[in-house]
Amino acid sequence: MTRSPTAPPFPAAGARRGPDPADDAGPVDRPRRLRRTAAIRALVRETTLAPDDLICPLFVVHGQGVRRAIGAMPGQHHLSVDVLAGEAEAIAAAGIPAVILFGLPAAKDAEGRESFDPDGIVQRAVRAVKRAAPGLAVITDVCLCEYTDHGHCGLVAGGEVDNDATLGVLGRVAVSHAEAGADVVAPSGMMDGMVAAIRADLDDAGFKQVPILSYAAKYASHFYGPFREAADSPPQFGDRRGYQMDPANAREALREMALDVDEGADILMVKPALPYLDILRAARDAFDVPLAAYNVSGEYAMIKAAAAAGWLDERACALESLTAIKRAGADMILTYWARDAARWLREG
Ligand code: PBG
Repeated sequence: MTRSPTAPPFPAAGARRGPDPADDAGPVDRPRRLRRTAAIRALVRETTLAPDDLICPLFVVHGQGVRRAIGAMPGQHHLSVDVLAGEAEAIAAAGIPAVILFGLPAAKDAEGRESFDPDGIVQRAVRAVKRAAPGLAVITDVCLCEYTDHGHCGLVAGGEVDNDATLGVLGRVAVSHAEAGADVVAPSGMMDGMVAAIRADLDDAGFKQVPILSYAAKYASHFYGPFREAADSPPQFGDRRGYQMDPANAREALREMALDVDEGADILMVKPALPYLDILRAARDAFDVPLAAYNVSGEYAMIKAAAAAGWLDERACALESLTAIKRAGADMILTYWARDAARWLREG
């Protein structure tokens, strides 16, 4: 191939790269060569998604034989503990390694007391899942918002969430989950010092082996809307901006994550996922610990609604979303598509 000696240095790097407008042969570099067939694309694919990247969120309620559809999250249900056991077996059989449990208590109060009751909804659910599918990892959400009558993620004093008073309760919740058999505890309340407090309480109670998955960079996001209906957890006054992060901030997320690593977090989470892929990438570059991303209820509901209207292909958009989240740096993804995605990936 000949090149005109007068060709401009374009791109700056030099003679061989890029198209030469004076050259009939066209571009030298042709990325399309590696896109020509499915087999070649498979060889050069940088990111692959598998069922064992996924964590399946489940909502547990009191009662018997309950399987009640959640309006704002089509395909998701409130399950009673007996029904949950069967669901857990199916999830394990699909090759999904973990579930995360959210509970709806029988009654709410100012301290969220059912959250640490040995016979509380989540504690009973953990025992049932471990019995039905012992190999499935059970992760529990450690937070008070579903259990408090005011709907905030901690104890309220003088109209504000009292950080330090909340820490003791969170430790107690985590220990009660570990006693029930939880494999991993996941504090989501965005209290300062929550990871250290929970680590100390777990260790004191003899649960040195139970890891902490910290919702470290959790934003005050409107994409949680459908979840708050599902978990019956909207704040009854004010909002969560006094403890969850401002969506405008990125450096602060790295600071939050660094603090959690120092406090002993074993896994860090970024939440939500799709609107915060930059945070996930920055976290991947800054920390060596495993990273989780939460593909939250609003991200799910948007695609579900568009698919129901005939505007988007649900399967294609869901798999594209999950692949993008993994590409950005997530090692594991919490997603309401976990079961469907595992099936779609198996079907190929
Ligand atoms: C709080 C919690 C929330 C979610 C998970 N844990 C909601 C909130 O902070 O208000 C949201 C998950 C989702 O939207 O899918 N314990």
